[in-house]
Amino acid sequence: MAGIPSGLKGRSYTRVSDWTADELRTALDLADELKVERVRRRELRALPGRTVALIFRKPSTRTRISSEVAIAELGGMALYVPAADLQLSRGESTRDTALVLSRFVSAILIRTFDQAEVEEFATHATVPVINGLTDTSHPLQALADAMTIRERFGQLDGVRIAYLGDGNNICHSLMRISARFGAHFVAACPSGYEPRAETVAAAKADAATTGGSVEIVTDPRDAAAGANVLYTDVWVSMGQDDGREQRLRDFEPYRLDAAKLALADKDAIAMHDLPAHVGEEITEDVLYGPRSLVWEQAENRLHTQKAVMALVIH
Ligand code: CP
Ligand code: NVA
Repeated sequence: MAGIPSGLKGRSYTRVSDWTADELRTALDLADELKVERVRRRELRALPGRTVALIFRKPSTRTRISSEVAIAELGGMALYVPAADLQLSRGESTRDTALVLSRFVSAILIRTFDQAEVEEFATHATVPVINGLTDTSHPLQALADAMTIRERFGQLDGVRIAYLGDGNNICHSLMRISARFGAHFVAACPSGYEPRAETVAAAKADAATTGGSVEIVTDPRDAAAGANVLYTDVWVSMGQDDGREQRLRDFEPYRLDAAKLALADKDAIAMHDLPAHVGEEITEDVLYGPRSLVWEQAENRLHTQKAVMALVIH
């Protein structure tokens, strides 16, 4: 394969909007190549002797394991660090933690609650900082989603992407990457669970320059009608367990089921970032059915994260 483009060296990835469409495309193109190379068992040792710290304040299956495997396959070493084990949990500042870790490791991935914590790490670290999910965004997931949609439809430009459910971190980042690439994005959310107004406004402004569109509706059938992609996420995100019963009631009409799929384009695909709660936001027949690209989507976390690490780490 061709070498690694050098234009993104040293850059952080804290939000989809940190990167231009061309930069995101560079990551997707590299991820496509790395996927093929992996099948051929050809490894790209882009990170020999490099260590990446993975700081987690929330549980993870995909983000943690795919990052660890990605870094190992690139010849580097991943250091999984539960945030509770750091002096950060006893009051050491984010600034000092970022400054010290930057002396040891070549990049920092962090999963936390507050987006501001990731931004603060990025401000003070002298190595790239990568967002592994916050309450308001999940930019690594959005890259894998875009890769999966491109694999099926060849591009995102003009693809109709319908998101059903909670206007949460997944919805925000999917909306931003859809707008960046000229897709037609519509989210159907119950009243009170809409995505943040500032994120919608920014995505709409972006879509106006790419020929895409962004719309927020309340009726899930309106969103599903004619869609090429039907996407959903959990109704109760990490940290929201207290409101669980109310949420299950409020989201009931938004379930991704065969009836919604029947309203979509005849070749529509079903997507979910996982973990899924079968019978809540998605039915078993859709999750495991012939229209589901969910498992491919999960695999693509590995290829896209490998691409991001190879591109940003010196
Ligand atoms: N989709 C995703 O980020 O999954 P994990 O919470 O398992 O990392
Ligand atoms: N919205 C979910 C996504 C998990 C990957 C959460 O934040 O828990």
